[in-house]
Amino acid sequence: MEKFITLGQYEAAFPSSLRPEVYAYVTGGSASGLSLRRNRAALERIVIEQRVGMDVRDIDLTTEFIGMDLPTPFALCPMGGMPLVWPQGDVEMARGATMGGLLGVANSGGPLAERVAVASGPLMFQLYNYGDRDWARSRLEEVQEAGYKAVTLTVDTGVPSRRDTHLEALQAAARDQPPPPPRPVGPGNDPTYLSMITWDYVRFLREVIKVPFGLKGIMHPDDARMCLECGLDFIWISNHGGRQLDSARATIDALPRVAAAVGGRAPIIIDGGFRRGTDIIKGLALGATIVAIGRPYMWGLAHAGAEGAEAISKLLEAELRVDMALAGLTSVRGITREAVDYVDY
Ligand code: GLV
Repeated sequence: MEKFITLGQYEAAFPSSLRPEVYAYVTGGSASGLSLRRNRAALERIVIEQRVGMDVRDIDLTTEFIGMDLPTPFALCPMGGMPLVWPQGDVEMARGATMGGLLGVANSGGPLAERVAVASGPLMFQLYNYGDRDWARSRLEEVQEAGYKAVTLTVDTGVPSRRDTHLEALQAAARDQPPPPPRPVGPGNDPTYLSMITWDYVRFLREVIKVPFGLKGIMHPDDARMCLECGLDFIWISNHGGRQLDSARATIDALPRVAAAVGGRAPIIIDGGFRRGTDIIKGLALGATIVAIGRPYMWGLAHAGAEGAEAISKLLEAELRVDMALAGLTSVRGITREAVDYVDY
């Protein structure tokens, strides 16, 4: 296995290791791809202030999130399709991405106990609500008994989006090989329930979930306020990696508005186009407590399984350390709004 030393090397190698439709699934956005592009474009409009005159030998990356002491302020996003990228990809990802005590977020579909068993940091569970209240109650009991330390319910998938690049790749693949027959729908995989998530339902889940609980897919300040009214513990700002509503706001642009509405009453986690150490600084400066990273972990997984995912964490950590030092920032917890500015290049 070739040894990679930069994120760009992992990204460049990614397409060659996958079937085209899997590559399109992982990398693609919804419809025109505008939300996907906007997430990046908006991050690129933000500058970090270069500051000097500080002793930057010691950089403290530790932080606290929903009662967890974390070694770094970033986490793994929950993602589908990991077993298509690497054998037992979901278990390997839980093992690799959490090395060194990082927070991992396990996607809804993978095996419950195996991932907790191999993780060396805390695992949050991402729930897709694919059944009625009885189904959800028993699923959440299993999740909590398995040892997941927090739960996030994804709420930005009320209906499946039309993902043009993925649809086109599937069409091309079907010319060579007919697609498998659709899975029968029943309790536990019935997408109709995704369309029926109301605030009343969130209140019901709040009673069932004893560990910290938050909604993933919050983009509007009013929805963030509703989360607080429902007694949730954290807010997850996300537009699903640009994969659901096309023409959405970039998540980094949703952050200041949501943070103002939350007013420090709950911590915020954000994802959406974050790739480098500098992007993490931007998220923290504008109000997030931690930043979740998705596709780069897929690049790592595709290259070397758990070890590839671990390498991505190490790269992000190394970058963040350098970037903070060069910006005169010595502690993650001390990064404030003054660290960044908006420009129009
Ligand atoms: C699943 O959450 C997906 O975006 O495909």
